[in-house]
Formats: sequence, C-alpha cells, structure tokens
Amino acid sequence: MNLGNTNEANELGNGNPISADASGTATRQRKFAVEAIDLVKDYGKGENVVHALRGVNVGFERGKFTAIMGPSGSGKSTMMHTLAGLDSVTSGRVVMGWQDLTKMNDNQLTMLRRKEVGFVFQSFNLLPMFTAEQNILMPLTLAGGKVDKKWFDTLTEILGLTNRLKHRPNELSGGQQQRVAIARALIAKPQVVFADEPTGNLDSVSSAEVLGFLQRSVREFGQSVVMVTHDAVAASYADRAIVFADGRIVADEQHPTAERMSDLLMKESERAARQGVIPTMSQLMDGMAGTGQDAR
Ligand SMILES: Nc1ncnc2c1ncn2[C@@H]1O[C@H](COP(=O)(O)OP(=O)(O)OP(=O)(O)O)[C@@H](O)[C@H]1O
Ligand SMILES: [Mg+2]
Repeated sequence: MNLGNTNEANELGNGNPISADASGTATRQRKFAVEAIDLVKDYGKGENVVHALRGVNVGFERGKFTAIMGPSGSGKSTMMHTLAGLDSVTSGRVVMGWQDLTKMNDNQLTMLRRKEVGFVFQSFNLLPMFTAEQNILMPLTLAGGKVDKKWFDTLTEILGLTNRLKHRPNELSGGQQQRVAIARALIAKPQVVFADEPTGNLDSVSSAEVLGFLQRSVREFGQSVVMVTHDAVAASYADRAIVFADGRIVADEQHPTAERMSDLLMKESERAARQGVIPTMSQLMDGMAGTGQDAR
C-alpha cells in the first residue's frame, strides 16, 4: 500500500481528503488515529478573548492510550472537544485517519462522531429512559449500523454487565453506569475513544476497574484512547501522558508513572506561581494529584 498516493487519500477521505501532495505528510498523518496541527482555539473576542489553545501540534498514535493532564482551565477539554469534532477551531487542522475535520460541514461531523468517535464523560451521560443494553447499542441505533453480537457479548462480559443489561441507569451504581458508558463508546469500534475525567465521579475501586478496562481495550483490542484526568495514578495506566498549561503542551511523557506525573504537575504549579499567575486551590490540588482519589 502506497500511503503517499493521492488517489488513495481521496478514496479514503470520504470526500474530505487531507492534502496528500507531500507523500511524507500523508504517511505521517496515517500513523495517527487523530492529529492536531497548529491548533488554535479562542473563545470570545477583543478584550474578552480567551486563548484556550495556542497552536498545539500533537499526534495520537493508533492503538495507544494517552492521558492529558494539566491545571484547571489549561485547555484539556477544549482540546478533546476540537479533536472529536464537537467544537469548531479558530485556526489549524484536526485530522482523523484521512479526514480533515476542519473541512467538514455539520452533517459530515455528526456522521463522523457517530461512527468514528466514542465518548466517556465524567457524569456518565446515559439516557435515563433506556436500559443498559439500549444505551450500549445507541451509537449503532443512531448510525443505522449492524450489531456485532459477538463483540457486544465480549464487551458486556468483560465489563461485568451481563446481569445488568435490562436495568435502567438509575438502577445501576456509578461504576456500573460508567462501564455501560465505556461499552457504548466501544460498541461501534471507533477510531478514537475520548474520555474526559472518566473516573472523576468514582471511588478508587470503581476507578481502577474503569482504567483497567480502558487499558485492556487498547492492549487487547487495539483501540486508541485519549483520556483527560486530574489524577496522576489514573495517568499511570496510559502509555503516554501529555501535560497542558495555558493552552500549550509543556510535557510529553512515555510510560508515565504516578510519581513522575505528580512531580511534573507540581513543577508546573510552581512555574505558574513564579510567573505571577497565582494558582487557584483547584490548581494546587491538581499538583497534589496522585493519591488515587479524585483530586479535583
Ligand atoms: N464555551 C466557552 N466560552 C468561553 N470560554 C471558554 C469556553 N469553554 C472553555 N472556556 C475557557 O477556555 C479555557 C480552557 O477551558 P477548558 O475547559 O478546556 O479547561 P480544562 O483544562 O478542561 O479545565 P478543567 O480541568 O477545569 O476541566 C478556560 O479559560 C475556560 O474558561
Ligand atoms: Mg475540562
């Protein structure tokens, strides 16, 4: 397969191919499940403008588990929302597989989110009137996709949900609800699963289960996972951890340990303090994350 071939890029691009005129560029982008190129996101205008992302360049490799850390307000959720096509960008590009999200219209983005992206949120976001099973199958119901019964059984078995499938979310524990949300995120075998503080509302045992499963989905099933977390222990389940500060990447660690991530976050708080940015209590708490508890 010649990855630098323009025709191939056009075929794979669903009408929105990335530019493949430089073969090196095409090959590089193919290696990533999703990539941010010179990504800028401003909220508001004039005096009230907030520079949430200040020219971020980062690729998230296929089949890898990446954690994103950093103080409150540093741009982590903004990064995730723009990567997932949930929020527009001010400038720069987001490339998922071969597709440039910044060139897509709303309909194309909706289809992409249903088929190529899985989401796990801190607050679970299950639909209360539907059973666990219906919630898990929702992405396929919406996209009109066929259910892979074997994959459904594998997921629900591994996640310990087999006996809870007929229950509604209010009949499930927080940990069970988050495991339903993970099954929902994985059912359509998306290009990327984005998880924004998935353990933020869970106790340490449920957190360990959720993190263990996200890790397993990467190692055993080749899923690509990007997870925002405030907890250095949670980040240590990832293959790589990126630290954000003030809309920029300030650290990028392979094989992160909880200790290393706590150190990096502490240093970042100290650096911010030296520059006259008084850290908030929440930022100070971020620096101390690593106790295994939710440190927000
Ligand atoms: N819709 C919005 N309108 C205006 N400003 C926004 C909006 N969303 C985010 N911001 C601002 O952009 C910056 C980055 O926010 P973001 O939510 O990405 O931070 P975060 O790193 O996820 O923080 P937290 O850890 O608290 O979730 C913050 O200054 C925030 O106030
Ligand atoms: Mg956030």
